Amino acid sequence: MSQPAPARPLSAPAEPSPDASADSPSSPATPPPGAPTAAHLLDFVRRTAADRDLVDSLPLDPEGRTWVRLEGPGGSEAWLIGWPPGTGTGWHDHAESLGAFATARGTLTENALAVRLPASGWRTLELADGLDRSRRLGEGGGRAFGRHHVHEVLNGSPDTHAVSVHAYYPPLPLIRRFSRTGAVLRLEQVERPEDWQ
Ligand SMILES: [Fe+2]
Repeated sequence: MSQPAPARPLSAPAEPSPDASADSPSSPATPPPGAPTAAHLLDFVRRTAADRDLVDSLPLDPEGRTWVRLEGPGGSEAWLIGWPPGTGTGWHDHAESLGAFATARGTLTENALAVRLPASGWRTLELADGLDRSRRLGEGGGRAFGRHHVHEVLNGSPDTHAVSVHAYYPPLPLIRRFSRTGAVLRLEQVERPEDWQ
């Protein structure tokens, strides 16, 4: 790793991409014809989260998250994930993939940042005020997000296991993981598919 870049403020608070909008004009990726949109993915995760037999088939472990890969629509990547009380993803983003997730059991909390992070050239960033967004998704609740979405998802319940369905298109090329101390976000790790197969 190179020397950490000095913290610099992120001052341009993009309006939170309410759900699916958010194609970036600078994105190099032009989706192929027929590629699933965020709305398609949201429809898929909602329908799948309502499939009780499938949801009940997920092995649950009180000690940690469990997951099963699913066939997503249009070549997307999809997962069924179990979350014991108190578990979460930590802060991360999804590169050029858009996505959606829906809660099938329990309640999940999503904390998100309404900002687009620079693609490279930094180790730490000082976040401007007002970028934090938080929502709770109870059973049947879902949300979609655009490219470059930054969030953490957690099961804040003290006693209830949660299950959710997630889908991404294109399939995730990488995930950047961040730690956060107050307003300072630090790039910790870049994970690629071989790290989570
Ligand atoms: Fe995520």
